[in-house]
Amino acid sequence: MKITDFTGLKIKEILEIENDSFSTPWTEKMFADELLNPLAHYFLMEDNGESIGYVGFWHIMDECHITNIAVKKAFRRKGYASELLKKVISYAEENSIVFITLEVRESNTGAQKLYEKFGFTNCGTRKNYYHNPAENAVIMTRS
Ligand SMILES: CC(C)(COP(=O)(O)OP(=O)(O)OC[C@H]1O[C@@H](n2cnc3c(N)ncnc32)[C@H](O)[C@@H]1OP(=O)(O)O)[C@@H](O)C(=O)NCCC(=O)NCCS
Repeated sequence: MKITDFTGLKIKEILEIENDSFSTPWTEKMFADELLNPLAHYFLMEDNGESIGYVGFWHIMDECHITNIAVKKAFRRKGYASELLKKVISYAEENSIVFITLEVRESNTGAQKLYEKFGFTNCGTRKNYYHNPAENAVIMTRS
C-alpha cells in the first residue's frame, strides 16, 4: 500500500469509489476543479497499482476541513481509512494547523467511530445539511 498526492491521473478509479460510496457523489468536474484549487489537497491510496481510497481536505489559514474520504468496499475495515487520516494529521502537524474539522451524516456511525478513534469530537449539528436523503450533519473537530 502506498499513499501519494492525487494528480488526477487515476480520476476514473476515484469516481468509481466515490459513486459506490455516497448517495450524492461528487462529479468528475468537481474533482477536476479541486485539482485547480490551491487550497485543496488530495491523497490517493493504492494497493499494487489499484486505487483503493482517497481523502481530500481544504487547508484554509490554520484550519483543515476534510471534504471527503472513502475506501473501496472490498478493502474496508482493514485500517486503510485510518492510514489516510494519519496522513492528514501529519500534514496538519507539519503545517501548524490548529484544528481539523468535517461534517458527517448523523446516521453514518461507522465513520463517526473512525473519527472518534483519532480524537475528533462532536461539536454541533448542521440542520438538513445533506439531501438524498435529507439529513443533519454532525460537525466533528480535532484540535
Ligand atoms: C468510513 C470509511 C472511510 C472507513 O474506511 P475503513 O478503511 O473501513 O476504516 P478503518 O478500517 O480504518 O476503520 C478504523 C475504525 O473505524 C471504525 N469503523 C470504520 N468503519 C466502521 C463501520 N462500518 N462500522 C463501525 N465502525 C467502523 C472502527 O472502529 C474501525 O476499527 P476496527 O475495524 O478495528 O473496529 C469507509 O467505510 C467508507 O468509505 N465509507 C463510505 C464513505 C463514507 O462514509 N465516508 C465518510 C464520509 S464523512
